[in-house]
Amino acid sequence: MIRIVEPVFSEEEKEAVIEIIESHQITRGKWTQTFQEEFAEFIGVDHCYTVCSGTTALFIALRALGVDRGDKVIVPAMSFMATIDAVYLACGEPVVVDVDEFFTMDLNQLEDAVKKFKPKVVMPVHLYGGMADMEGIMSLADRYGFYVVEDSAQAHGAELKGRKAGAWGHIGAFSFYASKNVPMGEGGALTTNDPEIARKIRQWIDFGDHPAFNVRITEFQSAIGTIQLRKLKERNERRREIARRYEEAFSEHFTTPKEREGSYHVYHLYTLMHPERDRFVEELKKNEIDARVYYNYLLHELRNSEHLPTPNAERFRREVFSIPVHPYLKDEEVEQVIGTLLSSVSSGKIV
Ligand SMILES: Cc1ncc(COP(=O)(O)O)c(C=O)c1O
Repeated sequence: MIRIVEPVFSEEEKEAVIEIIESHQITRGKWTQTFQEEFAEFIGVDHCYTVCSGTTALFIALRALGVDRGDKVIVPAMSFMATIDAVYLACGEPVVVDVDEFFTMDLNQLEDAVKKFKPKVVMPVHLYGGMADMEGIMSLADRYGFYVVEDSAQAHGAELKGRKAGAWGHIGAFSFYASKNVPMGEGGALTTNDPEIARKIRQWIDFGDHPAFNVRITEFQSAIGTIQLRKLKERNERRREIARRYEEAFSEHFTTPKEREGSYHVYHLYTLMHPERDRFVEELKKNEIDARVYYNYLLHELRNSEHLPTPNAERFRREVFSIPVHPYLKDEEVEQVIGTLLSSVSSGKIV
């Protein structure tokens, strides 16, 4: 089976885990400190705080920016459900807008929604590893006065105009779940450049002035994350190399993923579109290649939330499917995916 995600660890991670066990310092130690410093430097921000999941990072981001009962938070229609659930958990009221051709928040609709709902926070998602229009969103933030939280769970190392996902908004939120480009097993982080926002974040994670959680990660997770982070650049490059080969092979037959101008897409997922999506997914699975639909729901439908019209997302939801793009795919496996998919295109034509 060619798997859709494949976290791979080496002797280095094994040695670090053994070293931690032998040191008896299994939480709140040097690895967690190191990870936070290296991740902040990598993203290009002053502050990074690790937490136990991406969902927790989103929740804390919203609360740190003052979201409370009834505050509106704008999210895109296509994402993993944690994006909208974090808004409800923080007692906010989500408003869902459509996505553009890059599967990210539609800027024109965002402006309409901002005028109508006066949100406290706008939460773009860099879906599948591709950047949302952060230049446009930040200029609307300046004009209308709202905060921006970037859901960067799928976009470790993605860039727009040389600035990384997680360094554009007031806060960046990351996940280090097992399938992510930097996997820890479970984990998350918040990034920010603002010292006052950093102080508010710390109050949620350090037991301070108000009730807070224990959301810490262990030294094991931090060590694995640090070692994986050091390999990220090379792995993202391999993802991009596979994506280029797929683009060459598929652009004639499918709608292939687009890269926003001036951006560096990190292909957390490689997502194609075709009206006969289900047939292709079935065919790939029959041939021992994992293919999945991310996502077969829209966030406002899932949680019955306020929304603007979402014609793009409604079509995309019916047509998207993702194929393996992880950096450990061998060239032969990439060719096997291509061969299988192209032969089901031609068999479909005959039928
Ligand atoms: C876009 C997006 N947001 C949020 C999350 C939540 O992260 P976690 O699973 O670490 O809670 C995920 C991934 O799982 C995600 O893909």
